[in-house]
Amino acid sequence: MKKGFIFDLDGVIVDTAKYHFLAWQNLANSLGISFSEEQNEQLKGVSRVRSLEKILEWGNKTISEEEFTRLMTEKNVEYLQYIDKMDTTEILPDVPRVLEYLIDNQQLIALGSASKNARVILEKVKLSKKFHTIVDGNDVSKAKPDPEVFLIGAEKLDLAPGNCIVFEDSVAGVQAANIANMVSIGIGDAQVLHEADYVFDDFTQITEEFISNLIKA
Ligand code: BG6
Ligand code: MG
Repeated sequence: MKKGFIFDLDGVIVDTAKYHFLAWQNLANSLGISFSEEQNEQLKGVSRVRSLEKILEWGNKTISEEEFTRLMTEKNVEYLQYIDKMDTTEILPDVPRVLEYLIDNQQLIALGSASKNARVILEKVKLSKKFHTIVDGNDVSKAKPDPEVFLIGAEKLDLAPGNCIVFEDSVAGVQAANIANMVSIGIGDAQVLHEADYVFDDFTQITEEFISNLIKA
């Protein structure tokens, strides 16, 4: 029995939210807009374009299209400086254990991320080779909660959506998985991710028995 296990990247495999935060905060502050960790929470799973739109809304600021493009580039240049320093120590606890278990049991593994930097991050943490296919922000036209990213993942794995399981840390991502008719597994706060089929604090809580049952289901 082969199932498809689709992993979100940011907040599931690596904790890059802290780097997004630093880069968005510097950018917001340069525009005279304050930006808190709570606001950063609301940008989880949100595309780069939509993130900047939200920050500008919070600061009540309107800018030209050229300025918007320039700021997006500026944010990403700073973000990539943090990414450049990443290594395998930044993989979240027990992610490698779960990946290895899936590989040992001949399961299919995909990445389903909104990030356009997903490939470079996976290379940095040396996990690229674990994935049969990678779907990222460069491959989609619609952002989560639209299910596009996960549906493309299922298609690339040659599996029906009903045979796919998604690991997600964002509300929008859990909703996308549910709309795609996939099993949704929230990684994080159970209250925040209450729409998920299952929620775990992190991968250390996910047993091999649990995964084995997902494979057999
Ligand atoms: C998501 C992150 O995975 O990717 C968001 O949770 C981020 O915070 C989005 O904005 C887009 O990422 P990037 O790397 O293309 O700017
Ligand atoms: Mg995420």
